[in-house]
Amino acid sequence: MHKISKFRVTDVIDKDSLRNGKDLFSKQIFFVKGVVDVSGLPKDGRVEVCFAGRSNVGKSSLINALTGRRSLARTSNTPGRTQEINFFSLGETNYLVDLPGYGYAKAPINKVDRWQALLRSYLSSRASLRRVFLLIDIRHGIKPPDEELITLLNKVAVTFQVVMTKCDKVGSKSVKQVLDNTRKHLELQPTAYPEILVTSSIKKVGVDFLRAKIADIE
Ligand code: GTP
Ligand code: MG
Repeated sequence: MHKISKFRVTDVIDKDSLRNGKDLFSKQIFFVKGVVDVSGLPKDGRVEVCFAGRSNVGKSSLINALTGRRSLARTSNTPGRTQEINFFSLGETNYLVDLPGYGYAKAPINKVDRWQALLRSYLSSRASLRRVFLLIDIRHGIKPPDEELITLLNKVAVTFQVVMTKCDKVGSKSVKQVLDNTRKHLELQPTAYPEILVTSSIKKVGVDFLRAKIADIE
């Protein structure tokens, strides 16, 4: 018998959540600081969500799409653009956190080690971190460096939600294949949030859903 996956793709969100998302993201948004060492993290206590994923997957672009600000977070064609943990203040209650990417083979090894260590210590020690949005390029699906991060998140018991990016780049047939594979993968992960979002920052697909998901986090 075909087993129905508990991992559904979010294709509808109730009106209240959508409104809450819109309201939250109409509040004041500004860059707080870039952190290169966990000792520099801002005082915690807000509802904090971060955006993690391979270099170039579209983390910074998604933050810009969410906030409706074209260059709040710096983006680039060249992988390895974001090199610090960047904190953005949203209203008086939330932080959005843009992380450096991983899995970029061409970055100098000492830099990679430093980013990885910083990422790991942030993800495993930040008490107010409510959810990691794990961005996956919809053309590529989950890759070994993502698996490594998922292993860490399972270990430190931080919930992560998969957000597929760049859906404007693919047709519906390959989307189905990647989503099926992603679901299979997530079934085995204890800290995976059971909904997958499909987004495009360029075409603004799924961005209102993501705002609503963030606003729903208590
Ligand atoms: P690092 O900071 O290097 O880890 O990268 P990042 O994950 O922050 O990626 P970034 O937002 O800088 O985007 C990388 C490239 O992908 C840029 O050229 C973006 O314009 C492009 N990009 C991001 N989102 C989308 C999208 O939804 N669709 C398309 N077609 N391109 C996108
Ligand atoms: Mg970036």
